[in-house]
Amino acid sequence: MSENTVYCLMQKNVMSIIDHKKRDAQKVEQMFSGIGPRYDLLNHVLSLGLDIGWRKKVARETGGMNCQSILDVCTGTGDMALELSRFWKGKAHIEGLDFSRELLERARKKTRESNLESAITFREGNVEMLPYPHEQFDAVTIAFGLRNIKNRLKALKEFYRVAKPESCFVCLEFSQPGNTFFSAVYSLYLMKLVPLVAQLFGSDPAAYRYLGDTIKDFPSPSDLANLITSAGWKAVSYETLAGGIVTIHKGIKSGG
Ligand SMILES: C[S@@+](CC[C@H](N)C(=O)[O-])C[C@H]1O[C@@H](n2cnc3c(N)ncnc32)[C@H](O)[C@@H]1O
Repeated sequence: MSENTVYCLMQKNVMSIIDHKKRDAQKVEQMFSGIGPRYDLLNHVLSLGLDIGWRKKVARETGGMNCQSILDVCTGTGDMALELSRFWKGKAHIEGLDFSRELLERARKKTRESNLESAITFREGNVEMLPYPHEQFDAVTIAFGLRNIKNRLKALKEFYRVAKPESCFVCLEFSQPGNTFFSAVYSLYLMKLVPLVAQLFGSDPAAYRYLGDTIKDFPSPSDLANLITSAGWKAVSYETLAGGIVTIHKGIKSGG
């Protein structure tokens, strides 16, 4: 490894050290753009492929609605948007939004390769200030995005603003296992093994330490349900999966 390569790696890691409590938007965007090349692979490796089924479940959760347009926020490399498009078989148009141009390019490439270009549009933007008029979407989804948002309440209110009356909101996010023993093992896995595996796969271990920090600091499912409710969503419910490693929250926007 040349001296220049070592310097570049050090620069990359220094860029990735983020205060997970502040979640500065520019730093979060840079971090996600930096881990783009290995992002999908590490998602599948670190979750043992379970992430695929979790996103499929989110897509099914939108099935109770008569959806013509769905917004997937924090869409990243587009896996949730692609899953929604497969579920709705072209009957609903999917809009994916993220502030990482790098990840959106990857999302567009995957969409072309899956021949779903006409069903999905990707747009660059910040979820705290969505570039859409009021009441435009029949459903809003977010997978593993909420933890990373600086002002979560503001974002949840934005999702509510752009959702039509009678629409739904579905949020997939990491949570902490309820069982004390499992929780301790999972904590070791998150804080020690995950950054190591990330490094072995050529990604940035600091970004994966940030993942562990944000999961540990994230509100409990019941606190998150309260936050979603305080943004305006009604009948907020949640379901924990995989022993509590992830939770799906769902809310509806009452009729206008
Ligand atoms: C962990 S990734 C999740 C990506 C994808 N939804 C998935 O299921 O793999 C979080 C994404 O949120 C995006 N993000 C975080 N804060 C954001 C914000 N304020 N506005 C737009 N995108 C944001 C990041 O760029 C990143 O792509």
